[in-house]
Amino acid sequence: MTAAGEGRRQGLFVTFEGGDGVGKTTQAALLDEWLTGLGRTVVRTREPGGTEVGLLVRDIVLHHRGDVAPRAEALLYAADRAHHVATVVRPALARGDVVIQDRYVDSSVAYQGDGRQLEPSEIRDLSMWATGGLLPDLTVLLDLDPAAARLRLDADDKPFDRLEAEQEDFHARVRDRFLAIATAEPDRFLVLDASRPAEELAATVRERIRARLGR
Ligand code: TYD
Repeated sequence: MTAAGEGRRQGLFVTFEGGDGVGKTTQAALLDEWLTGLGRTVVRTREPGGTEVGLLVRDIVLHHRGDVAPRAEALLYAADRAHHVATVVRPALARGDVVIQDRYVDSSVAYQGDGRQLEPSEIRDLSMWATGGLLPDLTVLLDLDPAAARLRLDADDKPFDRLEAEQEDFHARVRDRFLAIATAEPDRFLVLDASRPAEELAATVRERIRARLGR
């Protein structure tokens, strides 16, 4: 309960990060189900593409329309994020809702910073500018060897998007950066071995959130 308003719940911002095919969406759905069962209002969203404007950006960055220069790609993800935070995430947090989101700033630092080999600290600064400095209360990093993740994506039988189609060394750099950010910000992160069973992972996430919600 906030000091400002008796009975008014405090918003909570939870993001799921990790490479492609690690099971973020499954975990986000399980957390949503649990929190909704506890009576919380949950806003499930994602980047890129959490808004109408964002869907247009998503189409440019993920669907093969020819090359997008790395700096243009970084700006497009940042533009999507700026609009999404201003129109969806901040209003939800202000209402006291829980926002559960697939991917956020850390994806840009890992994919554009290391994957595309731009400067990771500049990419982070760009997102911080875009969002007015909004960081999640908790970021769950689902860590998985890119080769194992690739097998999961292959099994899905869907065509690869522009980023998924990148080579192994790209995905190895992305993974290393996610782990480095988590090490640098241990209070914000929960790092999980994504090869563990989904229900076990979900239980660990619940435990961490329970501590946060005080229940
Ligand atoms: P999507 O299909 O939404 O996610 P997933 O692979 O998690 O199922 O694809 C999003 C792609 O966009 C993914 O390959 C990572 C990439 N991406 C970036 O490169 N930078 C970013 O800032 C974000 C949010 C995503």
